[in-house]
Amino acid sequence: MIKQAIIPLAGLGTRLLPLTSVFPKELLPINGKPGIEYILDECIEAGIKEVVFIISKKKKSVKNYFYNDSFYKKIIKKKKDSRIIKEYKKILKYKKMIKFVYQNKPLGTGDAVLKTRKYIKGNFFLMLLPDDLIIKHNCSKSMIKIHNQHKSSVMASMNVNKKTVSRWGIYKLGKKINKTNYFINDVVEKPALTNAPSNKAVIGRYILPKIIFSKLLNQKPGKGGEIHITDAIRSLINENKKFVAHSFSGKYLDCGSMSGYIKSAIEISKL
Ligand code: UTP
Repeated sequence: MIKQAIIPLAGLGTRLLPLTSVFPKELLPINGKPGIEYILDECIEAGIKEVVFIISKKKKSVKNYFYNDSFYKKIIKKKKDSRIIKEYKKILKYKKMIKFVYQNKPLGTGDAVLKTRKYIKGNFFLMLLPDDLIIKHNCSKSMIKIHNQHKSSVMASMNVNKKTVSRWGIYKLGKKINKTNYFINDVVEKPALTNAPSNKAVIGRYILPKIIFSKLLNQKPGKGGEIHITDAIRSLINENKKFVAHSFSGKYLDCGSMSGYIKSAIEISKL
């Protein structure tokens, strides 16, 4: 059973500047709630018991958000506001399940994942990218179900406009399992339109095997000089490790760009 999740949060968030110049993007409110809480709620509902956050020194306020007990206690002592008590209890619940590790140089998602190596106990773990919100359906829960059926790694997949393939990790699909699930034959990080094997893109939900850490230990930087998790996944697929692409139901919201961030609040307010 998958009980652990990791969440990389150590990136710079440049696409959301100036909002992110002093404030981590994961704490920015989306319809009155920090983005990271939507991700944690998805994990809890999917049966995850422990979450490892990869943060940087610059993002210490993410840890402070969950460790502000004395502040809450003082306020609650002064005024017994039921809303504040409820919010504090929720924060305490999150705090109990989160561990923090540090990546102080943003060398890439692969390097961020490697920082969690000593914390992962099972053979597989879930990874969620906090910029990628999926609403109306719990994508992590569906992916865990598929993992349990096939004993494989699983990654979320979505059709994207062909012209935009160079912004995404793109799949080459193999054998069809059913309407929404395919085995993956290859995955390419940000291919040029002419080299893209399809228009099916990797979205930020992954069930990864623990053996990925051994690949990441020796991995050289790839596109843009970064150590990409996609490149480590590609090496595993080349060694015939089973990876399934799951076309999720639910709506994808890209909270990492300014227009996507603004749209996501509007979409969530309609729920
Ligand atoms: P992105 O590269 O999409 O986002 O990383 P970013 O770096 O935060 O933001 P931009 O592109 O400058 O606007 C995807 C996820 O991986 C994390 C980020 O925090 C984000 O959640 N990440 C990225 C790391 O934890 N470490 C890294 O070295 C790179």
